[in-house]
Amino acid sequence: MKNIDSFTHVRGESLFVDDLMIRQDALIGLCYDSPKAHGKIISVDYSKAEALEGVERIFTYKDVLGENQIGGIIPDEPLWAEDEVHFWGQPIAFIVAKTEAIAKKARALINIEIEELPVITTAKEAKEKGSFINAPRSFSLGNTNDSFSNCEYVFEGETFSNGQEHLYLETQGCYVVPQENGSIKITSSTQGPTQVQKTAAKVLGIPMHKVEVDVIRLGGGFGGKEDQATPWAVMAAVAVQHLNKPVKYMLNRHDDLRMTGKRHPYSSFFKIGLTKDLKIKAFEVEFLQNSGAAADLSPAIAERTLFHATNSYFVPNVKTTVYSCKTNLPPNTAFRGFGGPQGMFVIECAIAKAADEIGVDRKEIQEVNLLAENDEFSYGQIANEVQAKKSWFTAKEKFQLEKLEQEVSDFNDKNIHFKKGISLMPIAFGISFTNTPMNHARALIHIYQDGSVGVSTGAVEMGQSVNTKMLQVAQDVLGISADKVKLETTNTTRVANTSPSAASSTADLNGKAVEMACNSLIDRLKVVASKLLSSEEKNLSFKDDFVFNDDKKTDVTWNAVIAQAMLERVALSENAHYATPIIHFDKSKEKGHPFAYHVYGTAITIVTVDCLRGIYEIDAVKIVHDFGKSMNLGIDIGQVEGALAQGIGWMTMEEISYGKDGRLLSNALSTYKVPDIFSAPKIVETIPLETEGNDMAIQKSKAVGEPPLMYGIGAYFAIEQAVKAFNKNYKPRYHAPFTPEKVLMGLYEK
Ligand code: MTE
Ligand code: HPA
Ligand code: MOS
Repeated sequence: MKNIDSFTHVRGESLFVDDLMIRQDALIGLCYDSPKAHGKIISVDYSKAEALEGVERIFTYKDVLGENQIGGIIPDEPLWAEDEVHFWGQPIAFIVAKTEAIAKKARALINIEIEELPVITTAKEAKEKGSFINAPRSFSLGNTNDSFSNCEYVFEGETFSNGQEHLYLETQGCYVVPQENGSIKITSSTQGPTQVQKTAAKVLGIPMHKVEVDVIRLGGGFGGKEDQATPWAVMAAVAVQHLNKPVKYMLNRHDDLRMTGKRHPYSSFFKIGLTKDLKIKAFEVEFLQNSGAAADLSPAIAERTLFHATNSYFVPNVKTTVYSCKTNLPPNTAFRGFGGPQGMFVIECAIAKAADEIGVDRKEIQEVNLLAENDEFSYGQIANEVQAKKSWFTAKEKFQLEKLEQEVSDFNDKNIHFKKGISLMPIAFGISFTNTPMNHARALIHIYQDGSVGVSTGAVEMGQSVNTKMLQVAQDVLGISADKVKLETTNTTRVANTSPSAASSTADLNGKAVEMACNSLIDRLKVVASKLLSSEEKNLSFKDDFVFNDDKKTDVTWNAVIAQAMLERVALSENAHYATPIIHFDKSKEKGHPFAYHVYGTAITIVTVDCLRGIYEIDAVKIVHDFGKSMNLGIDIGQVEGALAQGIGWMTMEEISYGKDGRLLSNALSTYKVPDIFSAPKIVETIPLETEGNDMAIQKSKAVGEPPLMYGIGAYFAIEQAVKAFNKNYKPRYHAPFTPEKVLMGLYEK
C-alpha cells in the first residue's frame, strides 16, 4: 500500500496548520527574541511598538497567569525571559497584531538594554567552568581499570561531532482559537500534543481539560517538534486567554533557525584497549554534550548516548560518562537518533584510531567484535535475536565486498587526482523510550453504522507514514477494504495522555493499541455474525468485507453485520490501551532491560574524493537492514533512504556555526548546506535481512524511523580513507562534519 497521503501531497491538497481557514477576527503573533546570548535585562522599551497602528498588544512574562515555566524534564526554562537572557534568540515578548507585516515592523521598534555577561558556546568551556544542566551519568560493565593493563594495545583520542539543523520543510507554527468558558483549542505542528496541552494549561493556570490540542500532520519533525513546538503554541494561547480572539503564529525560516535548538554537538574523549587478536577488551568515554541554555530533552538524550556508546559491538569492560554542559546556545533537542548517533560516532573513531595505529583495516576490528547472542550491554540488557553478524556477513556476501574493495584499490592505483574510499558501518539501535513509563499508547476506533471506520490514535503523522501503518493494522484485523478506514487527526480529547510520537516507537505503540481495539470489536461482531449464520463464533472470521465460515466466504457482508449490530444495540466503538511489557530500568543502578528489542544492519559506503578541489561524491551506499517482517517495504525503504541522507548530511556537509558571541552564523540555507539531489548517494541499495521479526514490533515489523540515520557515519570513514589514499601524512581529526574545506586541508597537510 502506498502512503495514504501521497495523492493529496502531490496535488498540494494535504492540510497543514498554515492551510487552516482562520477566523475573520484572527490576529497574527510574532516572537520578540534576545539579540544577545547572555546578559541582564536592564530595560525593554515597547512604547514605540505598542503605538504602531495595528498592534493589538505585546505580551511578556508579566501576563502569565499560571507559571512562566515550560521545562519538561527540569523546570529551568521560562516561556519568556524575566530579568536575564541565556541565549541569542531566547523569547522575551510576543507581539500580536493585525498582520504579520505590522508585527514585524513593531518588532523592529522595540528597544532593549542588556548588560552583557560572559558567553559560553562550547561544551568543553562549560565543563571547565563547571556549568552543567544536571549531575553527570555513568554506565559501567566489568572493570576498565584492571583490563587496560592486560591489553596489548591501548589508544586514547578526542572526537567532535557538530549539531544539526532539523530543517523540517514546514516551520514551527500554531493556530489558537478561544472556546466557551475560558477553554481554548490549539492546532499545533507538534510531535507531542499532550506536552503542548499540559504546558499550556500550566502557563495559563487552567486545567488540562480546558485545552484541546489537535494535530493534522507535520511537514516533518525529525525530533525538532518533540519539545520545541510547545513554546509558540503556549505564547499564542496566553494571548488568546487575554484577548479572547484567535491568534495564529507561523515562524518564518530565519526566526525558526535562530530560536530553536538542534542536534547536540558533542566533544568526547575515549580510551580503547584491545588484545593481540583485536578484541576490544576495555572502552572508556567521557561525553561532553553541548546542551544549550536549558535542559529541554538533554538529560534523556545524554542517557541514550550512553546506551549506544558500544554500538553493535560486545565490550566486556566499559565505563561511559556523560556531562550535559550548560552553554549559551538555544537549548539543543531531540534529533533522529536522540544522542545515539553521537555515541556511536565515538566508538567508530576509537576503532579507526586503533586500526591506524596497529596497521590493520578498520573492518578487521569491527568484525571480530560484533555482538553475539547473550552478550551483555553495558546497561545490563542481554542481547537476544541479535542480527549484528548476520547483517554484516550478508552485506559482505550479497554486495561482494571483496570485489568492491578491489575496484576501489584499482581505481586509486590508476588515478592521481581522484581517490575512492570504502567503509563498513554496522548499527544496533534500541527500540523503546529509554524512560520506561513513556512506553504506552491508546487507540479509539469508531465503526459507523454504514460500515465505515474512523481510527484515532496518539500517533502524529510527520511524513514517516505512521497513518498508513495504522490503517493497515485496522484493515487487517477488521478484514475490510482500505477505503472503509479513515485516520483522524491526532487530538487530545479523543486520545489523551499520549507520549510524543518519537523514539521510532509510534507505530509499535499505537499500532498495538489499534490491534487490541479492533480485536475487541471483532470479538463482539463475531457474536452478531454467528447468529446471522447460525454458526459458532470460533469458526468465523472477517476478510475482504465478508464473513468467512470455516475459511469459506459466506454471503454475509461486513455492512450486514454492522447493520445487525446496530439493531441489537451492540457497541461499535472501542478504546484500547497498550503498554510495552517486559521493559524496565533502574536508574539507581543504571541497569535493566530498557529496550523491547534492537534493530540491526550494515551499510557499505563508497565515495570518490576530488583531490584537487576537496569535494566528494557518495558513489553508493549498500545496506542490509533488519526490518523484521516489514508490513510495508515501500515505506520502510523510504525511511532508510531518508534517514541515510540525513545521517550523511550530519557527517559530511551540514555545518552549524555560532560566533563567539553566541549568534547563529549558519542562519539561512545559503550558509547551511543540506544534502540535495546532487549530493545524495548516486546509488542506494537496501536489502531486507531475512529474519523472523519480533513480537514486540507491530505485526513483527520492526521500528525503522531512526536506526538507519547512523549508516551515514560510514560516509565519514569512507572519505577519510580516500584522503589517506592521497596523502599518507594525513592525521585523522575525528572531527565531523567532514566538509569539503576540511577534506581539502587534509589532502595537502604535511
Ligand atoms: N520521517 C519523516 N518523513 N519525517 C519525520 O519527521 N521523523 C523521524 C522518523 N522518520 C521523521 C521521519 C524521527 S526523529 C522519528 S523518532 C520517527 O520517524 C518517528 O516516527 P515513528 O515512531 O513512527 O517511526
Ligand atoms: N527517544 C526519543 N524521544 C524521547 C525519548 C527517547 O528515548 N525519551 C524521551 N523522549
Ligand atoms: Mo525522534 S528524535 O525520537 O523524534
